[in-house]
Amino acid sequence: MVTPLSNPPPQGGRERGCASGETMTFRATVLTIFPDMFPGALGMSLAGKALAAGVWSLETIDIRDFGIGIHRQVDDTPAGGGPGMVMKADVLARAIDSAGADDRPRLLMSPRGRPLTQQRVIELAGGPGALILCGRFEGVDERVIEARGLEEVSIGDYVLSGGEIAALVVLDACIRLLPGVMGKAVSAQEESFAQGLLEYPHYTRPQVFEGRAIPEILTSGDHAKVAAWRRSEAERLTRERRPDLKTPEPDPASRENRSRKRPSDG
Ligand code: ADE
Repeated sequence: MVTPLSNPPPQGGRERGCASGETMTFRATVLTIFPDMFPGALGMSLAGKALAAGVWSLETIDIRDFGIGIHRQVDDTPAGGGPGMVMKADVLARAIDSAGADDRPRLLMSPRGRPLTQQRVIELAGGPGALILCGRFEGVDERVIEARGLEEVSIGDYVLSGGEIAALVVLDACIRLLPGVMGKAVSAQEESFAQGLLEYPHYTRPQVFEGRAIPEILTSGDHAKVAAWRRSEAERLTRERRPDLKTPEPDPASRENRSRKRPSDG
């Protein structure tokens, strides 16, 4: 059964960067044996409001509806032996096909997938949506991955009990980028991660907390110095915590760098 978990978007959706002026809603279709896990946390807060407003839509497809026999069997023992069960290619193919054909990427949540990056999230959020298959058990029959062009995506080097929570993670990361969901607040942070830097430390009142003062430079009122301090802190944290991230060279054309220039620099 296909269960739409959102109201139809008002007036067919909302505008999202379409040159033609057409309206576009980010459409998520989740295939799972646990449809009740959706929208879950995404029904609350900003994502929930955006769902109700038609910024994005969500439907679930219960894989078990395509299962075999009276027990609606969706898995079977692995060819070649070994532990666990494998999700059946024929069952999954029928479930996927029931969603209809469109140009959305088809993701398979799996710990052996390519690690999710902010760059991939930005690409997904800029597109028409995604069909997301939540794996369970030992894995998914390789043939349906090939036959339906599934893109395997991992949310980290650890193993969850299934792909549902990973699917919620992917959707959350995309939805917060949709226009109007979070406003401008998101852009600086996204830019910083997309550029390969972790965020600089943040502070707010009180001025002194348990004997720890806000770094003086942040209350100096000198915007160029604040920007330079933030950049160097971001670089330091990135070096310390994520040496695998490639820290970019400072952009000489950036506003921050231009404002650091002295008039004598020309
Ligand atoms: N399913 C189980 N573990 C997972 C992971 N780390 N990422 C995506 N899907 C998963």
